[in-house]
Amino acid sequence: CGIVGYCGPRQARDIIIEGLTRLEYRGYDSAGLAVVADNTLYWDKKSGKLANLCADLEAHPLPPSTQGIGHTRWATHGAPTDANAHPHVSSDGRVAVVHNGIIENFASLRAELIAEGVTFTSDTDTEVAAHLLGQEVAAGASLAVAMQHVASRLTGAFTLVAVNAGEPDVVVAARRNSPLVVGLGKGENFLASDVAAFIEHTRDALELGQDQVVTITSDSVTITDFDGNPSEGRPYHVDWDLSAAEKQGYDWFMRKEIFEQPKAVADTLLGRWTDRGDLVLDEVRISPEELRRINKIVIVACGSAFYAGMVAKYAIEHWTRVACEVELASEFRYRDPIIDPMTLVITISQSGETADTLMAIRHAREQGARVIAICNTNGATIPRESDAAIYTHAGPEIGVASTKGFLTQVVACYLLGLYLAQVRGMKYGDEIRSLLDELETMPDKIQKVLDGIEPVYELAREMAKDEDAVFFLGRHVGYPVALEGALKLKEIAYLHAEGFAAGELKHGAIAVIEEGTPVFVVVPPQGRDQLHDKVVSNIEEIRARGARTIVLAEEGDTAVEAFADTLFTLPRCSTLLQPLVAAVPLQAFACELATAKGHDVDQPRNLAKSVTVE
Ligand code: G6P
Repeated sequence: CGIVGYCGPRQARDIIIEGLTRLEYRGYDSAGLAVVADNTLYWDKKSGKLANLCADLEAHPLPPSTQGIGHTRWATHGAPTDANAHPHVSSDGRVAVVHNGIIENFASLRAELIAEGVTFTSDTDTEVAAHLLGQEVAAGASLAVAMQHVASRLTGAFTLVAVNAGEPDVVVAARRNSPLVVGLGKGENFLASDVAAFIEHTRDALELGQDQVVTITSDSVTITDFDGNPSEGRPYHVDWDLSAAEKQGYDWFMRKEIFEQPKAVADTLLGRWTDRGDLVLDEVRISPEELRRINKIVIVACGSAFYAGMVAKYAIEHWTRVACEVELASEFRYRDPIIDPMTLVITISQSGETADTLMAIRHAREQGARVIAICNTNGATIPRESDAAIYTHAGPEIGVASTKGFLTQVVACYLLGLYLAQVRGMKYGDEIRSLLDELETMPDKIQKVLDGIEPVYELAREMAKDEDAVFFLGRHVGYPVALEGALKLKEIAYLHAEGFAAGELKHGAIAVIEEGTPVFVVVPPQGRDQLHDKVVSNIEEIRARGARTIVLAEEGDTAVEAFADTLFTLPRCSTLLQPLVAAVPLQAFACELATAKGHDVDQPRNLAKSVTVE
């Protein structure tokens, strides 16, 4: 979910709607806002996208106000109806609250409140917070003190932001396990799930810590812990501006982000090595001695970040000869994984807020493991709770389906893998140097793929007419690329799409291939190993069963031509780096196909960009 709070001289309604527009990618099942004017609380909320709320506000305007809160929802407890939309309001109509996360003990609190005679009007966990805050305020507490008391009683993950009709120019928030940043303006202050909400007004932000309560007025920010003791946030400056958070002529953020990939990859590589060719990763604040002692690496992540982790496994094991596992963050904690102080956990998360991933790294650290986060969001919870963080410099990713986030994660994984190899004195010294050189050439190669993207679009438009299932095959690092290609198509085109290890297909899934079934195949470069030839054999196998083969292979690969119904060429690069060029046509294909089908590419059904619940 996305949340916003504002105190300042301007119309709160406008600032909140503008902030919610920029946060809508975080959830778009329903939206609402509350403002305070003349000692009275006013609110409005509507199911569906933000546009529904805006239309309702046009029809039923709220009075002018300079203080308010807003919310755009990704439903967890309760269907996306008007009643379940936020804000939730205390029975006396004096306190309104919006919430991101899950209050795990809401059932017992709800039962307690019902026994006291409180009537509930929604199915949400959030409403308990509204009633508890309302009771405290009615008994004379300030909203800040009420928030401290209520937050201490809640378990789970929450950011709560509230206003009280009786307190002009005050918005109060509490944070545990869910994101919240403060925007520091001149004569105005902001609260939001991320800086995109207020980037138009200020680039100065405060990152909040765990279990803090923050009170903003138009000219002050006060932070305490849940017991009311004074506390502090970490100030930082945002290094991108509003233009980065706008579409700039593209039809979709996703398409813009696909085309930003050459720059995003270049920015992630920038300044990472010395003139002598040594890799420097200053952010890895774990000593070389300790990194030399590591005897196992575990990568945990979700979604596209998990597939970036799968690519990393191949590279890291090859370069470091340390065993490397990749695991879905949601599975990791609950199977009692074998980790100890000799384990290095690498976590990958574009948003840095994914709850499954956060819980996994907390578990890893409890077992004594060291954790390095690869993340795209400065100030996010996951890097803050890790021993070290390597930032991808992709700029804000707003399209729900990850593109430049994924590619830059892969790049950061290469850098980390090469750094580990360097620190551990592996004999790949020359290979490292030539790979670093080659990495530098990748932005141009990605650009070349984008320059030649039209045939991919043409195929997408053609296939949008009648395809209902598409398969993707790859081997080695091409396997996670196949999985990522299938995920893109599922996410935004709602097609049944599956990725397979090319060699595994014959052990079962080949049975689903029929005459005309479209199958994308990522072909590795022609190299010393047998990988390339094995994949060519796999193409022959599916062709023999009638598949329509859509082949991605490097320029000059004449061996595949005979087996490809459609051939897209990729610039030449080493096998391990090929995902950086091979993923791009698959992203563009999904984007164009979903567009042709008339879907909302940036805000696909049922999904959210940043899933802050387990
Ligand atoms: C959500 C998004 C996916 C994303 C995954 C991991 O499910 O819809 O696109 O890959 O979260 O997100 P993260 O921010 O942790 O990389």
